[in-house]
Amino acid sequence: MSQKITVALGRNSYDIHVGDGLLEQAGPLVAACLNRPRTVIITDENVARCQLPRLEKSLTQEGIAFDSIILPAGEATKSFQQLENLLDQLLALQLERQDKIIAFGGGVIGDLVGFAASIYQRGIGFIQIPTTLLSQVDSSVGGKCGINTPRGKNLVGSFHQPDLVLTDVSTLDSLPKRQLLAGYAEVVKYGLIGDPAFFIWLEENGQKITAGDHDAQTEAILVSCRAKADVVAQDEKEKGQRALLNLGHTFGHALEAEVGYSDHLFHGEAVAIGMVMAFDLSVKMGLCPAEDAAKVRDHLTKICLPTRLSKSNHPISQVNMSAEKLFNHTLQDKKMADGRVTYVLTSGIGQAFLSADVTPEDIKHIFQMAMD
Ligand code: GLY
Repeated sequence: MSQKITVALGRNSYDIHVGDGLLEQAGPLVAACLNRPRTVIITDENVARCQLPRLEKSLTQEGIAFDSIILPAGEATKSFQQLENLLDQLLALQLERQDKIIAFGGGVIGDLVGFAASIYQRGIGFIQIPTTLLSQVDSSVGGKCGINTPRGKNLVGSFHQPDLVLTDVSTLDSLPKRQLLAGYAEVVKYGLIGDPAFFIWLEENGQKITAGDHDAQTEAILVSCRAKADVVAQDEKEKGQRALLNLGHTFGHALEAEVGYSDHLFHGEAVAIGMVMAFDLSVKMGLCPAEDAAKVRDHLTKICLPTRLSKSNHPISQVNMSAEKLFNHTLQDKKMADGRVTYVLTSGIGQAFLSADVTPEDIKHIFQMAMD
């Protein structure tokens, strides 16, 4: 049995189906979305090994003809080179404008495939079948897609909404624990932005989610996707409130850039550290009770996510960083307007807001605090 959430965007509206074992029912749902029974699945080596046969079987049973393109796993795949490679393969397969492609994987595959779909023959449809917790609660919903450049993450991309999102919680069973934990940071984000009751629920149930309990995972995914669908429906192109979904991300992206988007720090781990920094900054600016910042740090620590840059056994604590250099990375942020970066600050758990009134000194101080 699956549950459905609609992202209400007028003619661009689409459904997110969430269920346990949904891959086995993917065929009819995909068929109903296609204009003809022909598609291309794009995935990575890891997902191909663990999950691709399940999806292929379901499409075959439904009489859908498909090709599968398997790309290297990892953040480096979100590059101009892999974009060109993918577009070339789609052209070679003579995909038509009426066709839709399937992004089957985590955030890297979803972002790359969504971007390729947005520019292939001036735009074709695509289906997201996310297989990591991070992509199931965040990146598969809302239409942000793109690639990285040596100057920063997601700096080239577009908004291109999927036509359908199919989320099967059972795909999380084959996800490495560190990836699952990293995705959990994005789940916590929804509690911290605007849902204090969800944060309390996570304090009680978070360990079930990271231990692989499908019921707890399903509930967390549904709450997260409902929250994201609401925000996206109100502000599709991030002209305002959608930027709240970037809580901790400006700090996090700076850390990721500094380690060259390497496995020293996964995106979700960077977001965990970044959210703690956003709370610490809000406390420093007299906006948020210190007690709330402590609760956030304690919860993430209990879940075994990193919350600082040193004094831990996480690989990030081996990397030498400077507050000045990290600050310089924040200047590449897409939320920059008139030379100022807008930060997501908070008055407490569930009370995030946007502010451009943050000084460079405050930011450097917070980076330094995380290193001391
Ligand atoms: N990941 C933030 C957003 O989709 O807006």
